[in-house]
Amino acid sequence: MKALVLSGGAGTRLRPFSYSMPKQLIPIANKPVLEHVLENVAALGVTEIGVIVGDWGDEIEEAIGDGFRFGCRITYIPQEKPLGLAHCVALARPFLGDDDFVMYLGDNMLPDGIQDIADEFAAHRPAAQVVVHKVPDPTAFGVAELDENGAVRRLVEKPKEPRSDLALIGVYFFTPAIHEAVDSIAPSARGELEITDAIQWLVSSGADVRASEYDGYWKDTGRVDDVLACNHKLLDDRAPGVFGDVDGSSELIGQVTVEVGARVVRSRIEGPAVIGAGSLVEDSQVGPYTAIGRRCTLRATRLADSIVMDDASISKVPGLHGSLIGRSAVIGPSEHEDSHHRLVVGDHTRIEVAA
Ligand code: G1P
Repeated sequence: MKALVLSGGAGTRLRPFSYSMPKQLIPIANKPVLEHVLENVAALGVTEIGVIVGDWGDEIEEAIGDGFRFGCRITYIPQEKPLGLAHCVALARPFLGDDDFVMYLGDNMLPDGIQDIADEFAAHRPAAQVVVHKVPDPTAFGVAELDENGAVRRLVEKPKEPRSDLALIGVYFFTPAIHEAVDSIAPSARGELEITDAIQWLVSSGADVRASEYDGYWKDTGRVDDVLACNHKLLDDRAPGVFGDVDGSSELIGQVTVEVGARVVRSRIEGPAVIGAGSLVEDSQVGPYTAIGRRCTLRATRLADSIVMDDASISKVPGLHGSLIGRSAVIGPSEHEDSHHRLVVGDHTRIEVAA
């Protein structure tokens, strides 16, 4: 079996980050989302992975590499415009050949793994096998209606009035039967070739389409709040370890990781938390649920429930919470002797100040 990982999306819901970096490289528990995804795919024993990339292709390729460290070989497949998930399958046809494959959306996190579902697919080999998950509001997703045996009766993309609470989550298993379906559908109202329509085409033509319910943790990391929630979950599951320096005046509580070359000075770190390689935390309180990237500097700061990306520096900010701080951001007191706030912020930035 091969794998097709889709990482071409523009990530408009993750602005301003998606202006300066691909959303798939946003770190969760100090590891890019796409690395979590590739590890999950490689854990199925897949060794040939195609990755669809868009405008950020070069950055993604540079960060992820040829797949060696995941124990697989990665083929990058450029998509000029985001024309839909089924369009990605059509583009990848030369890579996929006539093999079965798992298609995985590159911003979907399923940390509990999908081995059972992959085994079920391999045992029965239906034309397609979708993965569904009960959600409170299915209107934002593809929705599956199943019969009593778990066979798919109908799929509808983002229905206004959903007839089930089973959302399609970003993992699909296919035999080569999907290719004829992809070639047979027309673009949807939003101008995209929808994978949901291609699978529905299979259902309508009498093919065997199954659904498996995933009841582990799932997050589509499309928005800042989802990224932070997922960070919460992954930090909870992380083993602690101190590989950097923690001075005698500092206190580490609970699951804390201090990576190589990081220094913690006169500070209190409350886990779950990770302090990235080469970072300095001084006279500060960090955590719980906080991931600090590499080469960051935190001085006289209190920060909880947040992600700080590489090379950022924060000083003298006493109450940061629920924050996502971009690479090389600088946050701190004014250089001028006055009581004003000075902001240099890009488009679609969001700043919330305590009243
Ligand atoms: C896509 C699929 C949708 C699925 C969702 C899962 O939607 O079209 O069926 O439920 O991913 O994250 P999109 O994120 O492209 O709007």
